[in-house]
Amino acid sequence: MAKIRRIGVLTSGGDCAGLNAVIRGIVHRAVGGYGWQVFGIRQGTHGLLARPVDCEELTIDRFSGEVFRTGGTILGSVNQGDPFAFPMPDGSVVDRSEEFIAGYRELGLDALIGIGGDGSLAILRRLAIQGGWKMVTVPKTIDNDVGVTENSVGYVTAVDVATEALDRLQPTAASHDRIMVLEVMGRGAGHIALAAGISGGADAILIPEVPWTVDGLVGKIHDVRDAGRNFALVVVAEAAQLPGGVEVTETQADGSSRYGGVGHRICEIIEERMGINVRVTVLGHVQRGGAPSPRDRLFGLTFGVHAVDLVAAGRFDRMVAWSNRQCIDVPIEEALKAHPLVDPYGALAVTARGLGIYLGDLGGAS
Ligand code: F6P
Repeated sequence: MAKIRRIGVLTSGGDCAGLNAVIRGIVHRAVGGYGWQVFGIRQGTHGLLARPVDCEELTIDRFSGEVFRTGGTILGSVNQGDPFAFPMPDGSVVDRSEEFIAGYRELGLDALIGIGGDGSLAILRRLAIQGGWKMVTVPKTIDNDVGVTENSVGYVTAVDVATEALDRLQPTAASHDRIMVLEVMGRGAGHIALAAGISGGADAILIPEVPWTVDGLVGKIHDVRDAGRNFALVVVAEAAQLPGGVEVTETQADGSSRYGGVGHRICEIIEERMGINVRVTVLGHVQRGGAPSPRDRLFGLTFGVHAVDLVAAGRFDRMVAWSNRQCIDVPIEEALKAHPLVDPYGALAVTARGLGIYLGDLGGAS
């Protein structure tokens, strides 16, 4: 087995709380435990494209204070610029993968730890195979949709933030006899909406995995009011479709589209049907920033230490994961095959329905 002396670490894709905890775990284990050098590559894979490579050596001192308690990533990150279809200023897309691969060689790395969500992990794996990189990965995303692992770094904090938003919306809703609609992130998955909706006392939770009807939603709000309560809380995942299967998206300046606007559409629907006061809050990137919750720190630090131990053991092309109260590791390919969405019959969905929360219409399921 080749001796390891220098490893790289990068954060790729959308940031989230807990990334600095992962980096801390990596640096402590690699520098303190094995005596290696650790280079933090800046701006995700894009640091590998710069010449000289855009990086900094990470020492234990760097993590003695507040860094791991903070949100974001000290290394920076990007969620655009696929190395295999890189957008050029003239509008063309070019395969620049060999330039990224050359960056790894220029740094003289013996291995790389990549921290990313499923999109980033797929790209990193392609680069690793093509470039012969020795790589281990760590799952992170507020969406919690990376396969195999029960938890990705960042998810728990996002749920905390969305729950706190509901805690703050409830008194103002009650003060003004209002229906409050809260739109949360999650891309194609409703994990944040479901977990926060249950924890934050929502009356209805609309997610992409379960179709819903206007009659069902409005009927629930009528029930709440008939029972003597003057307010209601509705949580909607950004990718929840309108009845009829319509996705609500916004077009960006560059012509691309992203989720956004479903909360406002639902607000209009309720107002039209019921003629009552509705307000919408779009939580957006607030869910990604801020201090990581203790559990995200624990996941991050544990994943970081375990990833370094995998490198030391020469076990590459693997992703660390959380399963059954243990930190395990699996082939990256296996994690990429699955894309866990909310199970409409799973424990949390059953809990929501058991609490009387409107979770869409499954045709009589309980
Ligand atoms: O994947 C994480 C995520 O925050 C999604 O929940 C959201 O749809 C998306 O990224 C937002 O991306 P951006 O930061 O590019 O607006």
